[in-house]
Amino acid sequence: MTRVSLRGAILAATTTLEGAGVPSPGVDAEELAAHLLGVSRTRLGMTPLVEDTWVTGYQALVAKRAERIPLQHLVGTVQFGRAQLAIGPGVFIPRPETESLLDWALNAIAEIKAPVVIDLCAGSGAIALGISAARPDARVIAVERAPSALAWARRNIVKHIDAGGNRVELRGGDIADQRLLADLDGTADLVTANPPYVPDGTPVEPEVAKFDPAEAVFGGPDGLAVIKPLISIAAGLLKVGGVLAIEHDDTQGESVPALLKARRVLTDVADHDDLTQRPRFVTATRVRMGSATRKGQLA
Ligand SMILES: C[S@@+](CC[C@H](N)C(=O)[O-])C[C@H]1O[C@@H](n2cnc3c(N)ncnc32)[C@H](O)[C@@H]1O
Repeated sequence: MTRVSLRGAILAATTTLEGAGVPSPGVDAEELAAHLLGVSRTRLGMTPLVEDTWVTGYQALVAKRAERIPLQHLVGTVQFGRAQLAIGPGVFIPRPETESLLDWALNAIAEIKAPVVIDLCAGSGAIALGISAARPDARVIAVERAPSALAWARRNIVKHIDAGGNRVELRGGDIADQRLLADLDGTADLVTANPPYVPDGTPVEPEVAKFDPAEAVFGGPDGLAVIKPLISIAAGLLKVGGVLAIEHDDTQGESVPALLKARRVLTDVADHDDLTQRPRFVTATRVRMGSATRKGQLA
């Protein structure tokens, strides 16, 4: 058996991934090496040499990434805030930009004891579990419609409990189904949502087109098909003084806040950038219990 330079193998992999159009070839080459070695990326320097048989396995993994299979599917997990999520076919891959919403949400409930938090369009459970991991005293309810995503969310909730976390309640169904959340009307301190919002027909990277479920990504011709009803649903779930945070497309930094400003039961509407300074999520506060507090009928 021959030992060869790990750095050399990573550089060759970077060239392969660059040639395949992978957006961050160097990072991905390192992440795949770290995954295969069972270490974190920052510890790669501790392993200067690897067996040539290891390189063969590494090259096979790199070839899959060059086919534009998402990195997260190859390594099987994503870190999201304090939660580590299992990810694979049939569920949306949580994005780093959504951590901006998570940070805002955690800050918003920092002073509330045992807050009630509802995460709509939960996917893998990323936001719900990110909140539960940071706030074990919170009651967190996650709502998701797609059976394949629900299976991943269930798995992640079990993993979270096994790691000592609290149970996150998972409700399977459409957020617009009035029976699904009726018992939670007017109870939430915080409602979060990262709904599908990309306008239909928008060109997306191969990883998204082939591996993120279309119903998780695309939100109708203007991208607002889910967001519009979601605003009413979220407002109905909030108690007075409760807050909501909804992620949106970077082209919707004006249109989505305008939808919230049109609701008399919401105030303090503000839009926020993500870490790349692009408009990414909107927040608002529930102000009063009007006469029409039934879901979908809020002013
Ligand atoms: C962009 S993904 C976000 C997943 C997760 N919140 C995250 O940030 O990683 C949107 C999710 O909303 C779900 N979804 C879309 N429309 C829905 C609806 N009407 N009711 C419930 N879930 C819905 C999709 O199945 C998908 O899992």
